[in-house]
Amino acid sequence: MSGVTDLPFRRLIRELSGGCAPFFVSEFLSAGSSVFLTPANLRAARFDKEEEPFCIQLFGHNADKLANAALQAQELGAAFVELNAGCPAPKVSNKGSGAGLLRDLPNLAKILQAMKANIKVPLFLKCRLGWDENSICINEVLEIAEGEGVEQLTVHGRTKTQGYKGLANWDIIGEVAAKAKIPVIGNGDINSMEKVLNAIENYGVKGVAIGRAVLRNPWIFNPSAKIDVRGAVLRFNELMMQDGFRPMQALGRLKQLCARLCSDVPDFRLKILRCQNHDEFLDNFTP
Ligand SMILES: Cc1cc2nc3c(=O)[nH]c(=O)nc-3n(C[C@H](O)[C@H](O)[C@H](O)COP(=O)(O)O)c2cc1C
Repeated sequence: MSGVTDLPFRRLIRELSGGCAPFFVSEFLSAGSSVFLTPANLRAARFDKEEEPFCIQLFGHNADKLANAALQAQELGAAFVELNAGCPAPKVSNKGSGAGLLRDLPNLAKILQAMKANIKVPLFLKCRLGWDENSICINEVLEIAEGEGVEQLTVHGRTKTQGYKGLANWDIIGEVAAKAKIPVIGNGDINSMEKVLNAIENYGVKGVAIGRAVLRNPWIFNPSAKIDVRGAVLRFNELMMQDGFRPMQALGRLKQLCARLCSDVPDFRLKILRCQNHDEFLDNFTP
């Protein structure tokens, strides 16, 4: 998740997962400029040995640039390269990238073909159901993906125009999974082990992808976790500082985590979200 699952955050989740090893995907990296290996992309592409095999996700709308970016991602050590065809943010999708690719399936096919031809590691695709409810195209996307040699399809069961509203449509995800020859990973609203098992047993997906629930419950991968909010917040801070974050940068990320983590204690939540600086924020968590 862009702006969320960077290296310090993934380190935190790994530590809180008690030996369970989630399969991590990078934040999405832009393949939009002529140079792919920008400082920002190089930073976002970093991963720990313990995260291997690691997946680097890319977004863009230009086949040549994405093919080049895919090769660079492979050279940076990615075991899998994934194309994002799901991001609904206007600055991404209105330019034809992310979910914008669902409005131009010939270009999606061209991009997948170019990426596939340029890498040896498996190519994955992550997408939504379609641009809007009148243009659901996930069946065509599956056909294109299989035709172009994509080896795993992750389906977020919403349309672009839905954003994050409403519930993901798991019936459609299930239909896609039943039809697919490649593994389909279901995505949308998974926040418990019961939902994971339900998705696998009743919707035929090979696995699930978990997004926002990790912010609300960073212990989600650990069935016997000891919940220690203060410990997790302070550790996240430590991991960001070790990674060279500036205090104000870290403050934003701490608030992002705490806004979800502390939603059951609204007064405290409001107090910490109003903190003007890093020290003031940390005072609330220091015994
Ligand atoms: C802040 C934020 C950033 C996201 N960034 C990405 C991204 O970079 N790549 C991606 O494939 N999905 C991204 N997503 C979408 C999630 O991966 C996921 O598909 C979506 O949130 C639905 O799953 P969930 O209900 O488990 O959160 C992002 C979601 C959020 C809320």
